[in-house]
Amino acid sequence: MKQRFLRIGRSLALGLAAFAFSAMAATAQPAAIAERLKQCSACHGDDGVSKLDKIPSLAGQPEFFILNQLFLMREGVRKIEAMEGMTKDLTDDELQALATHFSKLPPKASGEKVDPDLVKRGEALASKMRCASCHLPTLAGQEQMPRLARQRIDYMIDAMKAFRDNKRSGADTSMTAVIVGASDADLTALAHYASQR
Ligand code: HEC
Ligand code: HEC
Repeated sequence: MKQRFLRIGRSLALGLAAFAFSAMAATAQPAAIAERLKQCSACHGDDGVSKLDKIPSLAGQPEFFILNQLFLMREGVRKIEAMEGMTKDLTDDELQALATHFSKLPPKASGEKVDPDLVKRGEALASKMRCASCHLPTLAGQEQMPRLARQRIDYMIDAMKAFRDNKRSGADTSMTAVIVGASDADLTALAHYASQR
């Protein structure tokens, strides 16, 4: 009798241990991502909406855009000094989990000061330069094309200057071709307009 009880006790303990182990294995991935996300939030905001000058918001970016950019960063093609070393040992699964996470957060305006005259000027330019043909009429972005709507104005101005002046490492040349020859004033107007979509 005692022998039998012991056996049951032992298999129960083993069963519990196995259960605990599988529960741990199941949560290992999300726990690792939570650690990564803490790091990202310091600059890109807890909700993916950046409160910091010239740092882009990630909330509501197309999933593939984020995935593609993180991939380019990991491979050392798009170089971002502030993020140096942060992406180099991310696994494919982690890239995907980060992209899914940020793409699902609701985009929000940055709260920067918006100039209504520049918005109007930017709207006319955007229509002439056909920004919507790639970024969509809502400017919400698609596939490898980023969301511009509700993105930070200061970041977009810098990003467009970097494309125009061939300073963004690993940049897609289609964007450079669109704004080659645009003045700083044009780019500022475009950014004010896009942020308000
Ligand atoms: C120390 C600040 C900092 C931290 C921490 C940080 N980033 Fe960034 N990130 C930046 C800056 C600055 C840029 C824009 C650089 C530029 O001017 O092109 C950027 C750009 C990006 C972009 C490109 C967005 C776009 O619209 O082009 C993605 C995607 C991104 N970061 C994801 C992440 C993820 C995911 C993490 C966490 C693993 C992270 N970042 C952590 C500063 C940071
Ligand atoms: C032919 C397609 C195409 C057109 C037209 C186009 N874009 Fe883009 N744009 C892109 C692509 C692709 C990227 C991403 C480039 C990369 O990853 O290097 C991009 C990136 C950007 C970015 C950087 C955003 C970020 O989060 O890093 C800004 C800002 C931008 N475009 C603004 C505009 C504006 C304003 C117009 C109209 C004047 C415009 N684009 C027209 C394809 C286009």
